[in-house]
Formats: sequence, C-alpha cells, structure tokens
Amino acid sequence: MEQIEIIYPDDWHCHLRDGAYLATTVPMVAKQFKRAIVMPNLNPPVTTAELVRQYHQRIMEHVPTGNSFTPLMTLYLKDSTTPEIIKEAKQEGLLFGCKLYPAGVTTHSQAGVTQLEKLFPALETMATLQVPLLIHGEVNDPEVDIFDRERIFIEKHLTTLLKEFPTLKIVLEHITTQDAVQFIKESANNVAATITPQHLWLNRNALFSGGIQPHHYCLPVLKRKIHQQALIQAATSGNPKFFLGTDSAPHPQAQKESACGCAGIFSHHAAMEMYAHIFEQENALPLFEGFASKFGPDFYGLPYNKEKLILRKQNWDVPEKLVFGNDTLIPFLAAKTLNWQQIS
Ligand code: DOR
Ligand code: ZN
Repeated sequence: MEQIEIIYPDDWHCHLRDGAYLATTVPMVAKQFKRAIVMPNLNPPVTTAELVRQYHQRIMEHVPTGNSFTPLMTLYLKDSTTPEIIKEAKQEGLLFGCKLYPAGVTTHSQAGVTQLEKLFPALETMATLQVPLLIHGEVNDPEVDIFDRERIFIEKHLTTLLKEFPTLKIVLEHITTQDAVQFIKESANNVAATITPQHLWLNRNALFSGGIQPHHYCLPVLKRKIHQQALIQAATSGNPKFFLGTDSAPHPQAQKESACGCAGIFSHHAAMEMYAHIFEQENALPLFEGFASKFGPDFYGLPYNKEKLILRKQNWDVPEKLVFGNDTLIPFLAAKTLNWQQIS
C-alpha cells in the first residue's frame, strides 16, 4: 500500500503545556488530530472550572486560523475535589473528563490523590453527570518495583473503582503491560485503554542501549518485550476497547538531559506516522482507522470527524530538534528515518 486515507484521527491523551510552549505544541497537535484530550497537570494544576476555562482560552489562541482543532479539557482531581467543583465545571460546558493522578506517580502529580476513598463523593457525581474518569494507573508506593506499579494499581485500586462505580466511564491511560491488556479485555464496556506510540515502538532495553537514554524515559516506564508485544497485539487487533492516545509530553532538552531527567516523550511531530508503521509491520493497516479515528469517538459517544487524513509511503528524516519557546525540544525518534509521512 502506497497511501493511507482515513477519517481524521483524535488524540485521546496528551500534554500541551502552557505559556510560550503552546506556540509549538498547539499547531503540531492541530495538524495531526482534530480533537485531543488535554491533560491538566500544569504547575499549578487545572483544578477548578475557572482554571479549565482560562487554559482552554490560552490553547485556542494558538490554534492556526482556519484549523478546526478542538481541545477537550480535563480537571485535575485532588483529595479536596468536591462534588460541587465537578458540577460547576460540568455546567460551565468545557469539561470533558477528570484526571486521576495518584499523588507522586509522575510529572506534576504531587497535588494528586493520596487516598482513593477521599475522592468517592466526587466520583459518584462524575458517574451521575457522565463525566469520564481518566486514570494514570500506577501505585505511588516507592517500595513497589517501578516495573510492577501498573499491575499493582490494577489489582489494588482499579478493581475497587469498577466495583464502587459500575456506571462510570473509565479510561486506563497509556497502558504498558500484558496485565493491563488482559484486564481491559475482560472488563465491561465502560472501561477502555489508550496506547502510546513509544510503548508500541520500544521496550525497556531502549532505556539503556549504548548508555542511558533520557529521551526514552516516560511514565509508566517502558516494560519488557513480552509486554510490548501484548500492546502491539491489542492495538492492531481491532478490539474497540483499545484506542489512540499519544501521551505526547514535551519537556525542554535541558530538563530531559539532566542529572535528574524528567519523564515524558514528545510525539506530536509524527505520531500518526509511527502508529502507521506499527500497523503496517503487523499487516493490520485495514484496522488502523478503527484504532485512530473510530473507537475513541465510539467510546465517548462522539461523532467521527468529517475530514480525511492522508499518509504517503515515503521516507523522511525526523528533525534532530525543535524550537520550544526559548528552549529546545528533542522529538521522539529524532534524526531517525520514518517511512510514512502525513501529506494532508
Ligand atoms: O511520561 C510522562 N510524562 N508520564 C506522565 O504521566 C506525565 C507526563 C508529563 O506530564 O510529562
Ligand atoms: Zn500523560
């Protein structure tokens, strides 16, 4: 196949950051996707209806003229998030979902939830108002091996959430393990998962190949090859419970290449090209449109996009670096050659 033409895709999980960084991130996400769920882990986080509204406005200011991109806004859940906060944000009209970060599991999650039970009244309200719950599914216990934190979160917490709130729409984001794939497959239809390009492309060897590789570090961290294979199988299987979510998470080069490099991989420069490569490699290109453009809208009860995205089979080199406000950003697969390219 020399060309792929699919319904324009959406990104069901990403980070656009704020301030001067929006000038880089918003035009790039708006080129590859029509809608994107935007994470609220700013510093300070997006925790109220008013902060959601203001952040939405700042993003919209950077959408290129004539582009119909829609950011889908999220609220950051804290121990202190009340049903009233959820109601107010929902009423205001911009709230798409609420994000659960167990406190301390990842970038800007310090203000996250320390004890799930504290959140139950807010979750009850979300179930009633049909506001989806988006989960970073890792435990924050430093005693738990970092490669096991997703599996333990599922066993200890996700099962409880599903039991307590059987009607709540839940997305386990950026899954990284065979265990998560199995759990999602076996759960009810109100539970789904997103999969990133990096977790399809790499396994944990990539963190240490030829030296420590900070640009391959994200959270949940890359896992063993058997998990990578389970994710590839899930993404390319046509099962509508698995859909696209890049977790594109840019950080300035200096903060990645540092003595304490932070987690996050930027992929909005070529996410669709990377996913296409994986689907082609698996002889699954006929199932690509479902994963990228249909299963997400089906899960969230949204219409498909009307426009088409076209990728052509042609080699091109990923830039070595990108401008990122006053900083530099190293994109995922920098300086590597990709064999698909978005042409419209
Ligand atoms: O790698 C990650 N980066 N994982 C997350 O959960 C957060 C994200 C970020 O905001 O940088
Ligand atoms: Zn994320």
